[in-house]
Parts: sequence; C-alpha cells; structure tokens
Amino acid sequence: MKQGSEDVFEKVMDLAKRRGFIWPTSECYGAVAGFIDYGPLGAMMKRRVENIWRHFYVLQEGYYEIECPTIAQEAVFIASGHVAGFADKMCQCPHCKEFLRADHVADGGGVKNPSVMQNEELSLELASCRCLACEEILGKVEVFQFNLMFSTTIGPGSQRTGYLRPETAQGMFVDFTRLLRFYRDKLPFGAVQIGKSYRNEISPRQGMIRLREFTQAEAEIFVHPSCKNSHPMFRRYADYTMPLLTYVRQEQCEPPVSMSMREAVEKGIIANEYVAYYVALTHQLLVQTGIKPDRLRFRQHLPEERAHYATDCWDAEVFSGRFGWVETVGIADRTDYDLRAHGDASGTPMTVFIQYDEPKKVPRRRIIPNMSVLGRQYRTKAKAIFTALESATPGPSGVCVEVDGEKIQIPPDLFEIRDEIVDVRGEDIVPHVIEPSYGIDRMCYAVLEQAYDEDTADGETRIVMRLLPQIAPVQVAVLPLMARDDMDLIAGEITRTLHKSGILAEYDDSGAIGRRYRRQDEIGTPFAITVDYETRENNSVTLRERDTMKQVRIPITKLPETVGALLTGNIMFSSLVH
Ligand code: GAP
Repeated sequence: MKQGSEDVFEKVMDLAKRRGFIWPTSECYGAVAGFIDYGPLGAMMKRRVENIWRHFYVLQEGYYEIECPTIAQEAVFIASGHVAGFADKMCQCPHCKEFLRADHVADGGGVKNPSVMQNEELSLELASCRCLACEEILGKVEVFQFNLMFSTTIGPGSQRTGYLRPETAQGMFVDFTRLLRFYRDKLPFGAVQIGKSYRNEISPRQGMIRLREFTQAEAEIFVHPSCKNSHPMFRRYADYTMPLLTYVRQEQCEPPVSMSMREAVEKGIIANEYVAYYVALTHQLLVQTGIKPDRLRFRQHLPEERAHYATDCWDAEVFSGRFGWVETVGIADRTDYDLRAHGDASGTPMTVFIQYDEPKKVPRRRIIPNMSVLGRQYRTKAKAIFTALESATPGPSGVCVEVDGEKIQIPPDLFEIRDEIVDVRGEDIVPHVIEPSYGIDRMCYAVLEQAYDEDTADGETRIVMRLLPQIAPVQVAVLPLMARDDMDLIAGEITRTLHKSGILAEYDDSGAIGRRYRRQDEIGTPFAITVDYETRENNSVTLRERDTMKQVRIPITKLPETVGALLTGNIMFSSLVH
C-alpha cells in the first residue's frame, strides 16, 4: 500500500480503535484532546517497544533503570529553568477563539524561523496568516508565552507547589549524588528511565504525535568533560553508516549525506564520539522496532534552534504519510548545565572527585597568622579573622578582611606568607551529560503507520499489519480447523504449552478458518498454527507465516522451540519451507 497517501493516518487509527490498539480516553464523557488509552493490543505492543529499548540501554549499555515520581516540588523546576522558560508562543484566533501555537500558524503561513522571533515581531507576521482551525485570516493578534507544565499542590492547604514532570530527565539529575555512589564514584555511568511525562500542549490535534500525557524513555549518560571524544566502545558503531542532515546542508537546502560515525566525528560534523555513538545506536534501535531505514533520517539542530545549554543536538525523524518528518528521538550533549544548576540551587555539590594517576606538585601560598598577637588584639573576632586570612591575597600594606560587615586592615607583621609545593591527589569536576531521549508513543505510531498494508488474498482485499515478530502483540494464533473431533482439545493443549514457554498464543475457534486468518493478519500476528484432521494421525500441525501466507507442516513437539526461534529472529520462516 502507498504509505505516502494522506489517508494512511485515518486507516491506521480506524484499525487501532476497532481492534484495540489505541482509542480516545474517557470517550463516554467526550474525549479530551492530547490523551489516549492503549487498548489490550496497544499496551502489549508498547511494552514490547519499551523492551527493545531496555535491551539496548539496560543490557547492552549496562545502565540500570530507575523510577522517580512524576510529580516534583517547584524547586526542581526552578533550578532546571522550566518554571521560567518552558513555554510555547501562543495566540488566540479573534474569529473562532481557538488557542493556537504561534509557530505552527507561522509555519502554515510560510513565515521563516518563527521560533527565533520576539513576540511583537511574530504577531506582525501572523496578521496575514490563516487560523489553523477556522482558516480565516487572523489579522491583529497578540502573541504571548504559555508555560507547558501542569501545576498542582502537594498536600492539603495548597502550601507547596508541585509540577507534573515535563521530562523524566530531571529525576535522574537530582539523584546524581546517589547514582554516583551506586556506580562507585566512577565516570562514565548512565541512568535510564521509562515513564510518563506531561505537557499542557496548546493545541494537540495530531493523534499520538502530540499528547499531553506521553511516555518518554530517557538515558542520562554522565561523562568526564574531557573524555567526550573517547567513548570506550566507539568501535561498535564507528563504521555504522547512515544519512545525516547536517545543519550546514539544511542551510544550503541540500539532502542528507550518508557517512560513517567515525567520519562524522573526524570531520567535526557530530560534536563528539558519545553523541555519534548514541546517534548510531538509536538508528539501530528504531530499525529493530520496524521503522524502515528509508523513512528515517537524523537531523542536526540549527544553531538558533538548539537549547542554550546544548552544544550539539540531533533529532531522529521518522517520515509519516500524514505528518511529514516527525521528531521521534532527540540526542543532545547537555554539557554540565543541569548538574551545575541543581548543585547551585540545592547547595549539594554535583561533582565527581577525579584522582590523578600521580599526585601533582602544585605551588601554594599559605598565610600563617600570628595567633597570639591577633588573639590578644581582636579577641572575639580573632577566629573569623584567621578564617578570612586563609583565602585573602595580601598586598604590601597587609590584608583587608571583612568580618561581620566590618572591614579590618591587618598589617603585614601580624602574619607570615609561606610559599610551598603541595601534593594534589585529584580534582572535583562537574560531569557533562549526553542525553538520548525517546518518545515511545511517537515510536508506536510510526511502527503502526509503517506496518499498515493492504494486499489481496483469495481474491479479496486483505488488511495486514506487517509488525515485526518482536513487536507484534499476539505472537502466534492457534486455530483448530473445526471446534470438534478433538481438534479444539489439541489446539487448547498447544496454546497452554506455548504459554508455558513464555509465548503469547491466542486460541480462536470462531468462524471460518479464512476469516480467522484475516483477523490475525489485521492485528499483526506473525504466525498461525492450524490443527487439522492430519494432526490426529501424525501429531503435526501447519504453521503459517502472515506476510507470505505460506504454510509448512511441523511436529507439535517442535512448536515451542520453532516458534520461539522465529519470534526472536534466530531462524527465518523461509528456512523452514522446503
Ligand atoms: N529531556 C529532553 C526532552 O524531553 P524533547 O525533545 O522535548 O526532549 C523528547 O522530548 C522526545 O519526547 C521527543 O523527541 C518526542 O518523541 C517526545 N515528545 C515530546 N513532546 C511530546 C508530546 N507532546 N507528545 C508525544 N511525545 C512527545
């Protein structure tokens, strides 16, 4: 089926609702935009997508998962900058009164770079643009900031403000000192988290793409700032080659260019090995969920688009027949911005002590106060003067120190200056953070859209979800040809055996066999087992592959092993067909 066609979204969403993947939430009261429910099949498929992500980040990378609350106190988001700055520009249509994202209206009206404009400038540009809801020319509109965080109060009495987290990341930053201890005070290490994030999006009308409650899977990788160009496992992805839409090529209106990660780092196109490593890992991960490489590209943020703290940022964008290129994963070098911000605001240093291989000899100037004279002369203030002297810089006329707001001149004969060489064992540094941040709902939508297909079977149109076996919610269907003559009993027994092997098998005996195959094809079940009359004679069944509709006969005893290997990709169905 042609994936670029406009109505693939309608078809996918219709199927998703009808067959229990996704539907609008609290429909009986009238659905609320920006919220969705995952139905029985959708929730299972989403878990499988999340587990592929876990396979990469927890098993391959060795980063343990943590789970923080979805509500955090205000101090966290003041320090992170979200209270002051996590806002979109908004305007209200004077005709239909709809609230609109100003940058989206501007994009629709062909205005260039609306995200870098001041509110006043943007409001002048919007005057000639059309409302995205009623399509009238807007005319005079005011543009203002709208903070996207949902606020709440913690405890009774409305004393403490809290916010629903707009990203899972902050929980991992504020846990930094405990994580550091867990990882035995050594860099690099990573913390990962999958969970709900909340953003009060202004006008979410893009199905699963823009939600007010959505699932993020984020990794925060803490690295020594001077080791960002030496990822210990860079060789794993050094030769991994993919199309990169660099910011220079965007400025020159050029298409993406294919290159290896090694080349991209060597040419300074990707900032460092860490960012390149996670760009490549993300490409591999997305392809393993079923996203086709020809509908996947990595786009570098333009310098003016980058968050002020990020030195480099790449978005994995997936092409949608309805929405065009959709940002699905963001990979950023966040520098030390977050740890410094939380360290300063909380008073807890978010640093790592890095021990030198050999202690360094460092010259140090010490000021040794003449205790007895100072003590006699300044009595109760003497202790504070000693402390102030330690960090003072003396001049020819002595040192001026401040104690309790009073400036006191200490003459040179009341202290001695001693220049020494001391051994320094190491230093405290603030790590930098590399952050790959995945939107699970956008991944699920992309997987569903790309899996949707229509072909012909038995002279009729067949709707088939070509989900990869690793993603399909139901892994195998077990179908007795007829619900009689023991075929139903044998099929029931096979289903239970497969369950014991951890395979999600669905028993179905209702309706003609052809209709049952169609039902399973439509929900993406990759394999179907059919128990027929021959089964009773030789204990064999047919195993059918969804995509080719080919069938092979195999002994019942081999089912768990064969189906298990097909699901993990250890064997291909074609190898069973003689
Ligand atoms: N911690 C970094 C961060 O949150 P982001 O680009 O704002 O970065 C990361 O979000 C990913 O989360 C996006 O690439 C997208 O897939 C997903 N995401 C963001 N806002 C979303 C929304 N309103 N609905 C669904 N997914 C969203």
